[in-house]
Amino acid sequence: MCGIIGINSYKPVSVSIINSLKKLEYRGYDSAGIATLSSGLINEVKSEGRVDKLEKNSLVQGMEGTIGIGHVRWATHGLPNSVNAHPHSSQNVSVVHNGIIENSTLLKKLLVSKGHKFKSQTDTEVIVHLITEHLKTYDIVSSIQKTLKSLHGSFALGIIFKDQPDLIVGARRGSPLAVGYGPNENYLGSDSYALKSMTNKITYLDDGEFCIIKKDYVEFFNEEGIKINKKVLELSSDEEKYDKGDYKHFMAKEIEEQPITLKNGIKEYIDNSNNDVNIYNFPWKVNEISSISLIGCGTAYHSCLMAKYWFEQLTSLDVNVDIASEFRYRKNRFKKETLYIFVSQSGETADTYAALDLCKKNGMKTCAVVNVIESSIARDSEFVLPIHCGTEIGVASTKAFLNQILILYILCLKLGLLRKDIKKDVFTQKLKDLNNLPKLAEQTLLIDNKIQTVSNTFNKAKGSMFLGRGFSYPIALEGALKLKELSYIHAEGYPAGEMKHGPLALIEEGMPVVVLAPRDSYYKKTISNMQEVIARGAKVLLITNKSKDEVVSENIWETLEVESTNEDLLPFLLTIPLQKLAYYSALKKGFDIDKPRNLAKSVTVE
Ligand code: AGP
Repeated sequence: MCGIIGINSYKPVSVSIINSLKKLEYRGYDSAGIATLSSGLINEVKSEGRVDKLEKNSLVQGMEGTIGIGHVRWATHGLPNSVNAHPHSSQNVSVVHNGIIENSTLLKKLLVSKGHKFKSQTDTEVIVHLITEHLKTYDIVSSIQKTLKSLHGSFALGIIFKDQPDLIVGARRGSPLAVGYGPNENYLGSDSYALKSMTNKITYLDDGEFCIIKKDYVEFFNEEGIKINKKVLELSSDEEKYDKGDYKHFMAKEIEEQPITLKNGIKEYIDNSNNDVNIYNFPWKVNEISSISLIGCGTAYHSCLMAKYWFEQLTSLDVNVDIASEFRYRKNRFKKETLYIFVSQSGETADTYAALDLCKKNGMKTCAVVNVIESSIARDSEFVLPIHCGTEIGVASTKAFLNQILILYILCLKLGLLRKDIKKDVFTQKLKDLNNLPKLAEQTLLIDNKIQTVSNTFNKAKGSMFLGRGFSYPIALEGALKLKELSYIHAEGYPAGEMKHGPLALIEEGMPVVVLAPRDSYYKKTISNMQEVIARGAKVLLITNKSKDEVVSENIWETLEVESTNEDLLPFLLTIPLQKLAYYSALKKGFDIDKPRNLAKSVTVE
C-alpha cells in the first residue's frame, strides 16, 4: 500500500510534504519519512510509527529544501522500523516506492556483486542502486527507463537526484500515481486526495509511464522513453472537511452517519415521483446481460456476496461471486453476456483492479461500484455506480458497506424490473420500504448500552463465532471481520447450517456466539442451529428483529432486536449492532480503532 508525495517548488517544501503525508496515512502507518535536496545534498529523516512522530523530529522541523519526497509505509519487505522506512537513498538518488518488486532478491545479488552496499531489508532499495548504477553511463531518462524495464512487480515511484535541483521523477506500473499542477510548483502523489489542498488540476499516470516534474512544467514519457502528451483533469475544488466532530473516532462517526449516507444514496438513485430507479447512461441493453459476476476483497467481497442473495432471489440472472485475489489467477470462462461488477470503497485495491484489467483485456462488460469516483477502478471501468457515502476514514469499513449493498440492491431491483422478474407493484412496494430504511437505521442505532455490556464477554473470550443463514450469512461474515480487524479477537463467520460439519467442535462452555436470526424465511432453521450451539455451552447473543411473537427458545444469553422491515432490507439493520460490537470491544481494549494494527485503508499491493 504506502503513500507517496513529491513537491518541486520555489518555496521550502517540508511542511507541505508532512501535511500531505498526514492525508496519505490511510495507506499505511508503520513508518514515515521525508527527503529534501538542499545545498547540493540529499537530507533524509525517517522514523518508525506515525507521521506525527516524524513531524516532531527536530531534524524535520529545521528541514530546508525546495524539492522533496515523502512516504508513509505499510511494510511488505522488512520490519516496520526506521531503517526500512522510505525514502531510501544512495549518495546520488533518493526513492519512495509503493508496490512490490518481485525480483528484488536477484537484482540485489547482482548489485552487491558490483559493489553496492545495502542498508535495509526492503525490496525498494534495489531501485535506488539500479538508478545509481545506470547514471554512471546514461542520462536521467535512459537510466529511469532501463531501471523500470528490469523491475518485475508493481510500483509507483517518486525519485530525486542530488545533482538535479529542479527535478522529481515519477513512475507507475500497477500502483496508482497522480501529478498535480500548482502556481510555481508541481506535485506528485499517490492520489488526488493528498494533493487536493494544493491543486485540483491533476494528470493520472497510466501503467508503464513515467514523468519528469520541474517547478514550471511536467514532461511525460511512455515505456520506451518517448515523450507523450497527457490530459489535465480539473477535479472539483471543494475540499471535504474531515473532522471527527464530537466523536472519539472516525469509525464511531461513520457508524452514526449511516442513516444520512443511506438517505444520500437513495436520493441519488430513486426517483420517487415516478416510482423508478434512475441509472443514467447504463451502456448495455438489458437483454445483453444474462449473468452477473461480482468481485471484491474483504468487506467489499461481503457486499458482493450479499448482492448474490438478492439477485438470485429477485431476478432470473445467474450470479457468481469472487474474491478478487482468487479471480485474477483462476482460469476464468469469460462470457460476453456477463456483466462484471467490481466493488471497492477506495477504488484502488490492487487485486480488484487486476481483476478489472483482466476482464477489460478479455473484452468484457465492466461496472464499478465505488466510493472514490476519481479512483483507478472508477476511471478504468466502462460504467460507474458511485455509492455516495462521503469519505470514509476509519480503516474498518462501515458506512461504505451499507452504501455498497444499497446500490447493489437498487441495481438488482432495476434489472429485475426491466427483465420483468419483478412486478411493478412489488417493485413500488420495495422502493417504499427502501425510503423508510434510513429512519429504521436511525432507530437501530439507539441499541447501544447492551452492546457495550456484551462486548466485555467477547473481550475475555478466546474466540467467537458469527452465524447466519441466507441473507444473514454475508452479514455474519462481515460481523466477524469487523471484530477481528478491530479487537484482534479470533472470530469466524459461518453459515449456521454448516456448524455440524466441523466448526461445532470449537464450541465450548462460555464461548460467545452471535446468531443472526431475523424473522425471515430462514428464521426457524437458524433458531434450530442456535439450539445446537447453546446445547454445547455457547453463550448466544441473538440478534433478531422486533416482532409481536416472542422467540421460542431457552437459555439465550442476550437478545438484541433491530427494527422490522421487509426481509430484503433486514441485513442493513443487522449490520449496525455488529459494527458497534466491534467498536466497543476495541475501545475497551484501548486499541487504535481508526488504524488497526497491520492494516491500511487502501490496499494497493496484491
Ligand atoms: C474492511 O473493514 C476492511 N478494511 C477491508 O476488508 C476492505 O473492505 C478491503 O480491503 C477492500 O477495500 P476496498 O473496498 O477499498 O476495495
